[in-house]
Order: sequence, then structure tokens, then C-alpha cells
Amino acid sequence: MPFSPMPERLDTERFVLTPEEPSDVPWLAELFTARGAGPVTHDAAWQRMAAMHELTRRHGIGVYVLRPRDGTAPVGYVGLVVGRCTVEEPELAYELLPAAHGRGYATEAARVVLDAVLATGRDRVWATVRESNAASLRVLAKLGGFEVRRVTTDEHGRVLWHVREQDARAGSR
Ligand SMILES: CC(C)(COP(=O)(O)OP(=O)(O)OC[C@H]1O[C@@H](n2cnc3c(N)ncnc32)[C@H](O)[C@@H]1OP(=O)(O)O)[C@@H](O)C(=O)NCCC(=O)NCCS
Repeated sequence: MPFSPMPERLDTERFVLTPEEPSDVPWLAELFTARGAGPVTHDAAWQRMAAMHELTRRHGIGVYVLRPRDGTAPVGYVGLVVGRCTVEEPELAYELLPAAHGRGYATEAARVVLDAVLATGRDRVWATVRESNAASLRVLAKLGGFEVRRVTTDEHGRVLWHVREQDARAGSR
């Protein structure tokens, strides 16, 4: 593998970040269902978790669950996926349960995840965000260092392809 693997655990002020595990399946199914594209069963959520573990095993990237330090239930995930991109230049992804939105959680976790993936030796990380997704665009703005490199359009509208280069200047912490 040309890149070093991301760490198994990352820490932020409010969260311990670790990989998905079987006990996460029920709320992951709830999270995927909240996307609004139809109900996602526990079995389907389990399959997605298994695929994520395989990505991590083979390529050293993947998503981290945000586990609150106060012992309350997980609130979502932040991590690196292939998505519309590649293993060499992966995509930052974040998704929180609706009740956890608006408290700075995604930005807090994405900062350490972004630092960690850039420390694997990768030069470039992407974030593809729909033009209509104001919250996600705001997270990228707060992280800093992302710029729009491409714009594509699909049946749901415009997708802004943001890139963060290794030497870009990050936002204020
Ligand atoms: C995107 C998402 C992860 C953000 O999580 P979060 O923890 O709420 O994000 P943060 O609190 O760190 O930051 C969100 C920012 O967006 C702002 N925001 C939220 N909704 C907004 C809206 N409709 N218009 C403008 N700004 C908005 C918030 O005010 C906040 O900015 P601020 O800190 O300057 O006030 C969350 O909304 C989510 O899970 N959405 C559904 C999944 C998704 O869209 N994932 C991204 C796919 S590209």
C-alpha cells in the first residue's frame, strides 16, 4: 500500500472516533433511512458496515463513528470514502443523525479526520457537495482550505467538487 493507514482511533474535545461496529447497526439503519430514499433495513446497514470494514482493511481509509465522551449514544460518522473519487484521492464524508445537527459536531470531527488522511501521504482530498446543501458547504468553509475545482450536474442539480490540497491553509481552529 503506497499510503500509511489512518489510525484506528482519533480524539476530539467531545468525541472518541472509532470504526463502525455491530452495535452501531440499528442507528446506522436509522441514519441511512433519514436520507429519504426509502427505509434501510438492519441487514442492509450491516452490509454497508462490512463494505466499509473491507475498504479499511484493503486501503487504510474509512469512516469513524462519533462516540460522545459523556457516554451518550453515537451521533453519526465522519470519514473517508471512495464515493465519486478514488482510493488515492478519496472523498471526505459526514452524516449525523438529525437530532445532532447544528452543534459543530461535524466540523469538530472532520478537522481531525482531515489531518489524519493528509498524514497518510495523500496529496489531495475531495468533498463533493450539492449546491443546495448549505450545512455541508458551511462545514467545508469552516474547515478551510477547500476550493471548488469542478461542477457537475445530475438529475438532482449541481454538485460542487471541492478539493483540499496537502499544502492548503486550513481554517482557524
Ligand atoms: C452536513 C452535516 C453533517 C453538518 O453537521 P453539523 O454537525 O450540523 O455541522 P456543524 O454544526 O459543524 O456546521 C453546520 C453549519 O451549517 C450551518 N447551517 C445549517 N443549516 C444551514 C442552512 N440551511 N443554511 C445555511 N447554513 C446552515 C450551521 O449554522 C453551521 O454553521 P455555523 O457554525 O457557522 O453556525 C449535517 O447537516 C448532516 O448530517 N446532514 C445530512 C447528511 C449530509 O448532507 N451530509 C453531507 C453530504 S455532502
